[in-house]
Amino acid sequence: MCENQRAMTERLQIPAEGTPRDALLAEMRAFREGDARWQDGRCFSLVYFAGAEHERTLQEAHGLFFMENGLNPMAFKSLQRMEREVVQMTASMLHAPPEAVGTMTSGGTESLLMAVKSYRDRARGRAPWRRRLDVVAPDTIHPAVDKACHYFGLRLRRARVLPDGRVDVGSMRRLVTADTALLLASAPQYPHGVLDPIEEVGLLAQEKGLPFHVDACIGGFMLPWVERLGRPLRPFDFRVPGVTSMSADLHKYGLAAKGASTVVYRDMSYLRHQFFIATEFPGGIYASPSALGTRPGGTIAAAWAALRALGEEGYLAHTRRALEATDALVAGVRAIPGLAVLGEPAGTIFAYLSTDPAVDLYAVADRMADKGWHIDRQHRPPTIHLTVTTQHVDHAEAYVRDLRDAVEHVRAHPELRASGQAAMYGMMAKVPFPWMVRRSVTKVLEAMHAPAGQTTDPLEAATGGGPLDRFLQRHQDAVLRALDRVEAVRRALPWSGR
Ligand SMILES: Cc1ncc(COP(=O)(O)O)c(C=O)c1O
Repeated sequence: MCENQRAMTERLQIPAEGTPRDALLAEMRAFREGDARWQDGRCFSLVYFAGAEHERTLQEAHGLFFMENGLNPMAFKSLQRMEREVVQMTASMLHAPPEAVGTMTSGGTESLLMAVKSYRDRARGRAPWRRRLDVVAPDTIHPAVDKACHYFGLRLRRARVLPDGRVDVGSMRRLVTADTALLLASAPQYPHGVLDPIEEVGLLAQEKGLPFHVDACIGGFMLPWVERLGRPLRPFDFRVPGVTSMSADLHKYGLAAKGASTVVYRDMSYLRHQFFIATEFPGGIYASPSALGTRPGGTIAAAWAALRALGEEGYLAHTRRALEATDALVAGVRAIPGLAVLGEPAGTIFAYLSTDPAVDLYAVADRMADKGWHIDRQHRPPTIHLTVTTQHVDHAEAYVRDLRDAVEHVRAHPELRASGQAAMYGMMAKVPFPWMVRRSVTKVLEAMHAPAGQTTDPLEAATGGGPLDRFLQRHQDAVLRALDRVEAVRRALPWSGR
């Protein structure tokens, strides 16, 4: 019997009989054992926790509208009202003009998909003869924009980013062509928490007559409060002339339940292009404002509840605590010889890198992971990312202490860079051929989605099998040294963007 047939015959089935509720929930609780320990403040992204009481409020609000469907706002006027109010409260926070309009979406990715689609359709409407439109954005723009371009048939032109993490607006200018449909920048960008120069991009947008979307998915519900708390920030929202739309996620610093974001446009002339209307369906005229069909009522309700339950004072209090934690972490990282913070973080997100060749950052990451921290490793350049929230204020000291130990340990054991996950991340970060990385990551995704459905170790899946993988594993140290040299040459090239 071949592997596939075996998998088919042994495939998991819906059980013939139901499981009692208590046993079922106990089983599900046990599933969580190997998950990231966000409850202990050891996870620096993915979860935004604002305390048990707020969590209960969200759950109850979500539960109230759990069965309702935002697909048909005529049937559920309550959801329509709450969505409109969430969008309007968000627009006010972002200093949008009174004519501003928008929709809720299922998350940052959908908000960005919708913005790109809207501007594509707007550009097509204005110049239907243009065959291949493009979008100009910083190299650090979130991959959801890349995904949007991929889905909607646009070309993403990536502008150079300066060593401090901000986009080089001159590079954006050089990339604008007659086919450009949209400019984008981030407030702040995810990898290093650095704010792009929104005012300068706004000027470029006005000069070229182009729309400009600010991706504030992660910062939309954080920067306004950081600013209100008196930290100096360059303008990043609708106060900047030229900004035509913004995305801001409720399920991140908006402290709402997962599955909620907003996309807000300066006026209806932009939002109009987001709508989809099908007239030929025998089931009737079908209209939808965003990508989803059925839209869970619970997430709309929980977002509305988050804004109302916290109010400005709640967001300010949580942001104050998150800033306190960030300040402690940034100061702690800066005080460790061999580490540095990248650029000037604008709020509660930052990343650090190694400035000492004897300290391999991925080996440091492995050591931190061994100590129970959930670590976000990044590449180009290798950095560790931290999205800091209100929850981390009690854990900053422990993090810095463990980090100091980890750096000392790695400095004393240089061989660690060629072992564990460090070797794999080191190679992935430096491989000059994106197809090699894509091939490995495809293997990981295939393993994760195989019918047998084991929870596979992604690194094993990425490196399992072929002769090339075996060669790379056997000669990790030599391969890393060779890749270091390739990277050094690449960086020295005058046109190198990084
Ligand atoms: C700047 C930015 N944009 C977009 C997204 C995508 O958001 P989501 O994961 O909710 O789809 C993220 C996620 O972290 C982000 O940081």
